[in-house]
Amino acid sequence: MNIVIIGAGYVGTTTGIAFANQGHQVVLIDTDEDKINKLHQSILPFYEDGMEELLKQLIANGNLSFSTCLEEKIDQAQILFITVGTPSLPNGVANLSTVEHVARQIGRFIKDYKMVVVKSTVPVGTGDKIKEIIKDELAKRKQEIPFDQLSNPEFLREGKALYDAMHPDRIVIGCDTEKARLMMKALYKEEDAKILFTTIKDAEMIKYASNAFLATKISFINELARLCEKTGSNVIEVAKGMGLDQRIGPQFLQAGIGYGGSCFPKDTQALLALAKEKEQPLHILQAVTKVNQTQVEWFMEKVKKALGNLSEKRIALLGLTFKPQTDDIRESSSLKMIDYLLKHNAMIKAYDPKGMDHVKKIYPSITYTNTPYKAAVEADAVLLVTEWKEIIELDWNRVKPLLSQPYVFDGRNALDASTMIQMGYIYEGIGHRPSS
Ligand SMILES: NC(=O)c1ccc[n+]([C@@H]2O[C@H](COP(=O)([O-])OP(=O)(O)OC[C@H]3O[C@@H](n4cnc5c(N)ncnc54)[C@H](O)[C@@H]3O)[C@@H](O)[C@H]2O)c1
Repeated sequence: MNIVIIGAGYVGTTTGIAFANQGHQVVLIDTDEDKINKLHQSILPFYEDGMEELLKQLIANGNLSFSTCLEEKIDQAQILFITVGTPSLPNGVANLSTVEHVARQIGRFIKDYKMVVVKSTVPVGTGDKIKEIIKDELAKRKQEIPFDQLSNPEFLREGKALYDAMHPDRIVIGCDTEKARLMMKALYKEEDAKILFTTIKDAEMIKYASNAFLATKISFINELARLCEKTGSNVIEVAKGMGLDQRIGPQFLQAGIGYGGSCFPKDTQALLALAKEKEQPLHILQAVTKVNQTQVEWFMEKVKKALGNLSEKRIALLGLTFKPQTDDIRESSSLKMIDYLLKHNAMIKAYDPKGMDHVKKIYPSITYTNTPYKAAVEADAVLLVTEWKEIIELDWNRVKPLLSQPYVFDGRNALDASTMIQMGYIYEGIGHRPSS
C-alpha cells in the first residue's frame, strides 16, 4: 500500500520503518528540514538500538522516502497517518494545534478518497473534530471528496520501539465504515488475530486508559515503598510476591524515582483535564500524579538526610534519560534531581551514555564526564538515576576508591544491596533498608 506519515518523530519514523519493512511504500513528512535532511542521509533523529541499519536498507531498496512538503506527496497516498506531537498545555490539556493544522492541510490538498488515521495520542472526541475540520476545508473548496477518519493509537515503548512496532501485543483500530475496516485489515494482515476494532471514541480512550493504568501501578508501588521503609518490609520482595499473582503480574511494579518520558506525565494530565471538563473527577489518577510529582523530592530528602547538608557536596549523577536504551530526556526524573541539587548548592558531575547532549542544552553549567568513573572522582555520593546496563555493571570495586564518601543512592533498585554493602558502600535503595 502507499502510505504517507505526517510527523517524522519517534512514532512516525518507527511506524514508517515498520510498514516499509513489510513491503509498503512509505513517505515520511516533517516540517523540520534538519530532521528530513538527516533522514535522507540515513541518520535517525533519535537513538534507538538497531533502527538506523534498517533505515539505511529501506532507503536503499526504495520503500522509504522523505519530504518536507505534504502537498507534493499527498496524491501518492491511500492512507495518511497523523503522528505529530500532542504536548501538554500549561493546564494539562493536550495541545491539538498541530494535529488540527495537519487536518486542515489534508482538507486543502486531497483530490480523491483517503483514509486519515490518527496515531498521535489525542483526547476522546478529537476524531470528530478532525472530521469537521477536513469537511470544512473541503466545503471551502466546494469539493465533496470522500474520506474516512480513523483512530489507531500507538503503544510502542521507547528503547524497544522497533520490536514493538513489528510485534505489537495488540492493534486497536477505531473506525466507523466497512471500507476503512477492510483496508486496515489488509494493511495489518499479518497481525489479524491481534486487531481489536472499536469505535473511534473507544480507541481514543483505550490509549489514555492504558497509560493511566500503567502509571497507577508505578505510583502504587512507589507509595508502598515509602511505607515499607517505615515498617521494615522490603518492597522488592513485596512486589515479587504480588507479581506472582497472575491477576496482578510483575510488570510496572519496580519501585523507583517515578515515571517520566514523553507519554505518562502528559497523558495522565490530559486525561485528568478531560475528566475536569466533563465534571467527572478521576480521584485515583489524581493521587497517582501527586505521588509521582513528589517521588523525586522524597528520594532527595533521603540523600540530604544521609549527607547532612548538600551545600558544596559533590554528587555523581549516573543516568539522565528517562529510561535506558533511549536518548529521550523529556520529563526525566534526572531533571527534577538536578533542580533540587542546584537549589541546595550541590556540585554535580553527570554521565549518561546517550542523553548528555540534550541535558547540556538545559543545564550548560553543570559538569559532564565522558565516563561514569570520571563522574565518581571525589564524589560525596553516587546517585543512580537511570538503570542503563552499562551503569549497573560498572566495576564498583573500581568506583569506591575514587569517591570521597562511599554513599550510593540507587534510585532504581538496580544494584544488589548486599553485594554493595559487602564492598563497603553505604547503600540506600527505594523501599528497603538493607542491614549490613
Ligand atoms: N514517543 C513515544 O513513545 C510515544 C508512544 C506512543 C504514542 N505517542 C504519541 O505519538 C505522538 C507523537 O509522539 P512523538 O514522540 O513521535 O513526537 P515527536 O515530537 O518525536 O515527533 C513529532 C514530529 O512531528 C513534526 N511536526 C510538527 N508539526 C508538523 C507538521 N505540521 N507537519 C509534519 N510534521 C510536523 C515534528 O517536527 C516532530 O518531528 C504524540 O501524540 C505522543 O503522545 C508517543
